[in-house]
Amino acid sequence: MNLNFLSSKYRNSVIDQATSGDVPVEYDDLINLSIGDPDINTPQLIIDRAFKDACNGHTKYTASRGYPELRAAICDFYKSRYNMDVKDEEVFVSTAGSVAMYITMQAILDEGDEVIIIEPYFFPYPDQVKMAGGVPVFVKTSMENNFQIDFDALEAAVTDKTKCIIINTPNNPTGICYTYETLGKLAEFAIKHDLVVAADDIYTSFTYTEEKFMPIASFPGMKERTITINSFSKNFIMTGFRVGNIIAPDYIIRVIQTINENVVYTAPSISQRAALHGLHHFDEFEDDVVNVFRERVEYAHKRLSEIPWVDVLPVSGSFYIFPSIKKTGLTSAQFSQKLFNECHVRVIPGRAFGESGEYHIRISCTLGIDKLKEAFDRMEKMTF
Ligand SMILES: Cc1ncc(COP(=O)(O)O)c(C=O)c1O
Repeated sequence: MNLNFLSSKYRNSVIDQATSGDVPVEYDDLINLSIGDPDINTPQLIIDRAFKDACNGHTKYTASRGYPELRAAICDFYKSRYNMDVKDEEVFVSTAGSVAMYITMQAILDEGDEVIIIEPYFFPYPDQVKMAGGVPVFVKTSMENNFQIDFDALEAAVTDKTKCIIINTPNNPTGICYTYETLGKLAEFAIKHDLVVAADDIYTSFTYTEEKFMPIASFPGMKERTITINSFSKNFIMTGFRVGNIIAPDYIIRVIQTINENVVYTAPSISQRAALHGLHHFDEFEDDVVNVFRERVEYAHKRLSEIPWVDVLPVSGSFYIFPSIKKTGLTSAQFSQKLFNECHVRVIPGRAFGESGEYHIRISCTLGIDKLKEAFDRMEKMTF
């Protein structure tokens, strides 16, 4: 291995991989609740129509901001669902949400610009900020506060280098949604400090509260300072298609387009066709899909509430539940290892989502209730 062949910024990650120990043990009866990928398949009508389009020649590069008809469908969706006027020039079709966040950071950050990330966070954010030359600054939230944003902590985190704040609601990993009150205060905060908000709006359908999902971009004064990142991965059960979109002011979209042209040129044509059909037929499958996950998170909450050494909030959005295991006296890594060794159940230690995730575990309800039942039957027998 010649580490000089690698960029110095990635050399440590190779050393970490080489020294990270044994290959993890697998069990025949393993229940894997660590994966954020829905177990159900993409709605058949999306697959059938995209297949037909591929047979009819939609197998080539597309317009670099995406098929015009898909961009139009995205604008229509924002109008009908949120009563938001989004112009065609404000839409960019991306290679899913992950690339969308990465190119967003590339588009807005100068070396040393600070980006506030609310903890616990989706774990690629800090590296995405760093890869674009920025500096992540973390603001903690806690279960006691329903994982809503602490505005005193947010104020304390702002410096003259702060450029952007990344938010994600419904949230991975906490399973909460920001209330309208939180979003309203956040909008005021962003305007007061002249910040860009990068809104990772990828679980919008999975909102179980009376307050239906409202994009922060729709709050007064926010459209001109919000970069909204949408993905077809979760709402449309299309993780493998790798397609999403960005909504932002047109001059930001033009820069994002240039960066993307130099990286991947366009999102995959067949996936864009699938996204188009998904949007056209969303009403036919959205409720069915959401209800599957809603039933699971409610079940998970009920079972976890019955375990004396667990504290847990009801899930108000997404398909994750984020209980505290603090009463066991173990860290999230120790608990997750014990759960894996003794119960053959895999979850993600909360610490992976930032410091304030410590003493929590993230359970993905991406398996059926039979599997969840078995996992909780095993888990509740653990002793400490
Ligand atoms: C909060 C959040 N953002 C972004 C992503 C990335 O999704 P994709 O790249 O599939 O659109 C995920 C995936 O789990 C996520 O949980």
